[in-house]
Amino acid sequence: MSAALLTAEQTEQAVSLLRSGAQVALPTETVYGLAADALNPAAVAGIFTAKERPYFDPLIVHLPDYDWLKELTTANQLESQLADVLIEKYWPGPLTIVLPKSAIVPDLVTSGMPSVALRMSRHPVFRQIISQFGKPLAAPSANRFGRISPTTAAAVIDELGGKIVAVVDGGPTECGVESTIVRPEPDGSMTVLRPGPVAVEELEQLATVQMAHGGSRPEAPGQLDSHYAPDSKLILVESQQAVNHADRNNALLAWDPAVAASAGAGFGRVEILAPDSDLLTGATRLFQLMRQLDSGDHQLIVATPAPENGIGRAINDRLRRAANVPS
Ligand code: TXA
Ligand code: MG
Repeated sequence: MSAALLTAEQTEQAVSLLRSGAQVALPTETVYGLAADALNPAAVAGIFTAKERPYFDPLIVHLPDYDWLKELTTANQLESQLADVLIEKYWPGPLTIVLPKSAIVPDLVTSGMPSVALRMSRHPVFRQIISQFGKPLAAPSANRFGRISPTTAAAVIDELGGKIVAVVDGGPTECGVESTIVRPEPDGSMTVLRPGPVAVEELEQLATVQMAHGGSRPEAPGQLDSHYAPDSKLILVESQQAVNHADRNNALLAWDPAVAASAGAGFGRVEILAPDSDLLTGATRLFQLMRQLDSGDHQLIVATPAPENGIGRAINDRLRRAANVPS
């Protein structure tokens, strides 16, 4: 099988494939997702197969409209009060909310967990397709398990081309890294399970926030320490230390031009994550540059961190996991 590349106008075709139980890669504002009918266990099973994803790692469910929220969840009062505030402020957008699930969500979707991760994308093509489809879509990132998430249709073809029927090309994604995942707690606080485009500093304005930790049994089961892995070895070092790894066989993934200027001499290749030192620029370029450097056959990719605030936390989180450094 080789995946058909559909244009952003060919939404009818994508919808009829989804109705037939197929898996179709779709653009979202964060990264491309591999979508299938969330309420059809056979369609959902196809996602795990295509991604070679272990069944212990639950999927995010995307909603076509707000009415589906009460169909899929059973939150208590404080959980749903906070969820309402988050939804009002951030949906549609790059925030995933974990809530107690209702019986109609297949156990396969949640890996047997009592909760379900929900999100509503603001990408116009995704919204068009899911509203025509009219039901929730399960959609994890459209990469093979443990690898770099795709931010372009070409990257999806690289990852899954032989294993899925179609990709809808919506151009490069807007945010570049996956959604922020939060879990409202019964005491009115929330736990950030994965940093992302919605900044932790902003969430702290709304309620008490605690950060979940990774490890081999993380609270978001997919948040393993080793993730987003390029084939080449990648290390994450402080900017001042990068120069110690200067070698023609190595590549430097420098945060910004200042880091490239101070540390770049002697590397075989230097790429700059944020030419304008802007966090959002860095986030949108991260996975694409990791892919490019990975195909360059370097002995070592040496990355330097973004400033640790806003979406910079998400960039550093992905770099740490690509380097397999325990959080
Ligand atoms: O931006 C995104 O969120 C993208 C786009 C395609 O929507 N999706 C995405 O999905 O990143 P995925 O499957 O690559 O990451 C979902 C994460 C996993 O780490 C998974 O373990 C966690 O969400 N997750 C899913 N359901 C959960 C639950 N009930 N409780 C805790 N974590 C959950
Ligand atoms: Mg993923």
